Amino acid sequence: VVAAADILTSFPLPLVSGTKVTISCSHDDSSYPQMLWYQQKEDNHSLTLIGYGYANSAQNYEGQFEKQFELTRVDTLRGALIVRSAKPSDSAVYFCAATHCASGYEAHFGGGTRLTVLEYNVTAPTVKILPPSSKECKNKKKTLVCVASGFYPDHVSVFWQISGENVKDGVATDNNAVRKNESYSITSRLRVSAEDWRSPDRTFTCTVTFFNGTGYEPHSDSVKGALGKSI
Ligand SMILES: *[C@@H]1O[C@H](CO)[C@@H](O)[C@H](O)[C@H]1NC(C)=O
Repeated sequence: VVAAADILTSFPLPLVSGTKVTISCSHDDSSYPQMLWYQQKEDNHSLTLIGYGYANSAQNYEGQFEKQFELTRVDTLRGALIVRSAKPSDSAVYFCAATHCASGYEAHFGGGTRLTVLEYNVTAPTVKILPPSSKECKNKKKTLVCVASGFYPDHVSVFWQISGENVKDGVATDNNAVRKNESYSITSRLRVSAEDWRSPDRTFTCTVTFFNGTGYEPHSDSVKGALGKSI
């Protein structure tokens, strides 16, 4: 009994265009020496063969894939698919499979690896806090609105601080960033008491943590409490 081919590498986050990507595959039955790689595009759920081969021999490619993809084998049990320079059109799920030599034998498939390649240039968010509206009732709670806009991709999280202390109570953030043309925006609201808002020694900070294709970077805006103002 052969264990299903098992793909070891996964890419939970999108990659920047031009990245070299290696997707590894291994299994544990040397009576399945042939390794095959398939691509499954989101808009077309069928599997397209990229290529196949054996250890210690040249790999075989389907014509359209030869330029952009490279198959490597370490030994009978291990191999890899390399995307030389990932493009948005390479975004897909990749499967490896292992078979006996002759055609007609059953192929054992791995679980698949999703690869997402960013479509547009990475752009960091502009973060702006809008202070409470003067239309809110005088001594009731005040709402600060944080707007992050103009960013791509849409991997962001938002948190609030009052004078450096994280706050969770009274925070409501949109579930999803909204796409407009080539960028996204997201809004978060913080409700505070009128007293808190009127304290001049308080600083209200909204921080958007943005995934830039390689790491996470913080972008913030702050406002001071509004002592003596009528709002
Ligand atoms: C992305 O964020 C990481 C982590 O903060 C940083 O080291 C890197 O320089 C940033 N990359 C770009 C292109 O800004």
